[in-house]
Amino acid sequence: MPDRPDATPRSAPDEAIRLRPGLEALPAYVAGKPAAQDGTLRYKISSNESPFPPLATVRDAVVDSLEGVHRYPDAAAYALREALGLEHGVDPSQIALSTGSVAVSGDLVRALVADGDEVVYAWRSFEAYPIVVGSHGGVAVPVPLTETFEHDLEAMAAAITERTRLVILCTPNNPTGPSLSTEQVEDFLARVPEHVVVAIDEAYREFHDPATVLGTTGIFRRHGNVVLLRTFSKLQGLAGLRIGYAVAHPRLARALGQVTVPFGASVPAQAAALASLDEGVREELGRRAEWIRSERSRVLAALGAQGWSLPVSQGNFVYFPLGAESAEFVAFAEERGLVLRGYGADGVRATIAEQEASDLLIEIARQWRER
Ligand SMILES: Cc1ncc(COP(=O)(O)O)c(C=O)c1O
Repeated sequence: MPDRPDATPRSAPDEAIRLRPGLEALPAYVAGKPAAQDGTLRYKISSNESPFPPLATVRDAVVDSLEGVHRYPDAAAYALREALGLEHGVDPSQIALSTGSVAVSGDLVRALVADGDEVVYAWRSFEAYPIVVGSHGGVAVPVPLTETFEHDLEAMAAAITERTRLVILCTPNNPTGPSLSTEQVEDFLARVPEHVVVAIDEAYREFHDPATVLGTTGIFRRHGNVVLLRTFSKLQGLAGLRIGYAVAHPRLARALGQVTVPFGASVPAQAAALASLDEGVREELGRRAEWIRSERSRVLAALGAQGWSLPVSQGNFVYFPLGAESAEFVAFAEERGLVLRGYGADGVRATIAEQEASDLLIEIARQWRER
């Protein structure tokens, strides 16, 4: 018989280990709550996930790849990096992959930040930033958003010191929605010392109005300190497989390869990502993005007609800046079948997902105003 642990151990040994100082003070990542399984029809629109299931060719690629999962993944991820290199007009060696772009941002911090070095980002923004910075010994320098929930680039430039190693721009900004223009980013970059890396996190790029989307390729070509962060979790719908990447200049790309977890991008994740780059799949994903954009306009217009004044959103989500009432609104929505994402006393984010969920959001928002 194998030596199995008791299912209910009566006593646990003392755990006198010494954790890294500062770790306990870090916020824990709050994932979107799952919908309760209590018989009420609930939509979980709290994690900015795609409402669409995987496309058949992507699912087939994943299933086929399972034949090979007794082997480690191709650590060089040759086929995927070559395809991504072509897409971004860079050498495949400039593509740094990992288990989601959140992991790549951790790699960036590990590659750039020594104890006490600073990382500047806007706040509120993606809630993983303070965690990835703090857990790797960096000092987080959050710079408050403007009154219109946009990056305050003036204040961010002013927050850069001798100790700054990394600045993160999140565009469109999660959770508030506004994005940065090419001109704004260029003006900002002109004020950033060339040894400070500027990461542009575009997890929601595909949901942006294509006419005004950031000129990322040109920005990357013009600036040796810019690195791009991309994910397959949002429009491509591969959140559960965990794969994202950076497009980096050669020295940084090499450094990212040094610090990243070996074999991070799994066999099925690589297969799914590669299949997502297929021309036919891209066309369908493009249609999905278009649908999300038109749903977003519909939701914002309906809420506007009710008297709400929400920030402009270029992501697959909308943001209710409810301040101290945020938690109450989250509970109000949950009682009525919608799981939203609350951010303390700042606001509440709702993902644009199934049409029925958006209809319910509009109805709940109406009831809230009339309560
Ligand atoms: C701004 C931003 N960056 C990165 C990510 C993480 O993406 P991934 O699933 O690739 O780790 C998210 C996910 O919510 C996000 O909102």
